[in-house]
This record gives sequence, structure tokens and C-alpha cells, in this order.
Amino acid sequence: MSIAYLNGRYLPLAEARVSVLDRGFLFADGVYEVVAVYRGKIFAWDLHWARLCHSLAALQIPLTLAEREWLEIVAELIQKSKLDYLTVYLQITRGSEDSRNPYYQDAIQPTLFATVSPLSLHSIQDIKPTRVISQPDYRWSQCNIKSIGLLPNVMARQVAYRQGATEALLIRDGQVNEGASSNLFIVKNNTLITPPLSPLILPGITRQVTLELAERHHIPVELRNFNLAEVHSADEVWITSTGREIQPVIQVDDKAINQGRVGTLWPQMIQYLYDYKKEVLV
Ligand code: PDD
Repeated sequence: MSIAYLNGRYLPLAEARVSVLDRGFLFADGVYEVVAVYRGKIFAWDLHWARLCHSLAALQIPLTLAEREWLEIVAELIQKSKLDYLTVYLQITRGSEDSRNPYYQDAIQPTLFATVSPLSLHSIQDIKPTRVISQPDYRWSQCNIKSIGLLPNVMARQVAYRQGATEALLIRDGQVNEGASSNLFIVKNNTLITPPLSPLILPGITRQVTLELAERHHIPVELRNFNLAEVHSADEVWITSTGREIQPVIQVDDKAINQGRVGTLWPQMIQYLYDYKKEVLV
């Protein structure tokens, strides 16, 4: 059984309980992070921590534990999980009061929760080419905050799941912004193209690392928006996230990408990522 950290205690995940008055439960009033851990080492902790602090500040939820204390919790969960490859989920909600108020008192104590899941990616061979669909982007206009309010994301993912696809690309005003739980890259004529940072996408950590690796290895990059027709006719399509790393997409809706085969840039880029992991996870 998986384990959890909840408000200062470690316990089996199935026994973790929060109040029905928790504002996370009532209003999705909270934020989260997912970090990957490879053989005991956390990948890009500094970037995840910075994003968590940004999300908390955006919702004016106070940081009640220091970074060092969160790192101790993560280390304890890694150790208790006995897993070599895992993701750690961190969630902070605003907390609970004695009734369902539309507003809250500033003294409210946040609810701190963390748990772990096994990570199935141990090597490049574990990354499987995938199929995705497109869906309307019904999210709010502050998608740069990693809020737990994920209903539009979940609805789009459910449509994908029913159609045997693993991700939904989200379209707003004719532009494809990102996936429901991943960032999006296309490759055209050996140039890597991804939408620029804006309130309409999450500033993904894997996206950021991918862009840094492209720069380091002199791969041309364009930060610009694009539409679904460009995705359908791209040479390569990739989706990136902590849990997927960089995953090649070989079909979008009913359109095969690169005749249904992984392109030539992806094998290079994923090798760069694995080399980089070897470099930083020491
Ligand atoms: N999802 N865009 C969205 C909407 C996401 O939910 C995620 C991550 C990403 C990729 O971000 P990163 O590279 O930092 O993981 C982009 C996480 C993994 C999740 O909800 O489980």
C-alpha cells in the first residue's frame, strides 16, 4: 500500500483523511507539484520549488514549511516507499474553516499532503510512441498556476481515454496550447516549435529542460503559437511532462504523424535528456 504525508504525520495513503470543509475539497482551492525521483535523486527540484512558490503566491496561500522541511518530507517518502523510480505528488490546499464560506480568514492553516507513485520510465526503451486527440480548451485564463482545479483537463483526458488515446491537445481560439497534462512541441524542417510561455499554458519543467537542451545542442527553436493543421502536418510531435519525459506522438486525431513513425530528432533529444539526467542526478 502506498504511503502519505498529511499535516505532519506519515501514514498509509488509504488512511489519510481531511475534513469535508477543506477548501481544496469544496472549491479546488489549492496547488500541487509532481516531481520525479530516479534512484533516490530528485530531478530539477529547484525548478519545481520555484513553480510551487509561484503558484502559492498567486493564490495567496502562505508557505508554512520551509524548502528544507519539504525536502525532508520528500526524502522520508522516498525512503519509506522503497521505490527506486517514483514520482512524488505535493499538494497544498488553503485549509478548512467551520463552514463553507465563499471568502476565508487570513489565519486559516493550509493542509499539507504528499504521496508517491511508481514511475514506469527507467530507460529510453520504456518510452512508447503514443496517440493523442484534440479537444476544446475549456480551462480558465490562469493556466500558468498549477492549481488543483483540473476539471476541464480531466474531462478532456477522459474523452481521450475513451478513444484509446493517452492525451488531449487543448485548442483555444484556433491555437493548440498544450496537452491536458503535458506541454506540446512540433518539429518542422528540423526546427523545434513550441508555444511561448503565457497564462494559457503551464510553464512545464520538462518543457524548460527540453528548450535548454535544444539550445545547448544548437537545435533551432521557435517559440510561437500554431494551429491544429500545423500539428497534423508536422514532421514530429512530442508531448513533455514529468511522468512522460519527452514522448513521441505518432498520431493526432485520425492523422498519422511522419507516416506513423518516430522522427529523427526525437531519438537525439531523448538521448540528450538522459545524458543530462546522468550529469545532474549525482
Ligand atoms: N502535469 N501542462 C499541464 C497542463 C500539466 O498538467 C503538466 C504536468 C505539464 C508538464 O509539466 P512538467 O513538465 O512540469 O511535469 C504541462 C503533471 C505531471 C500532472 O498533472 O500530473
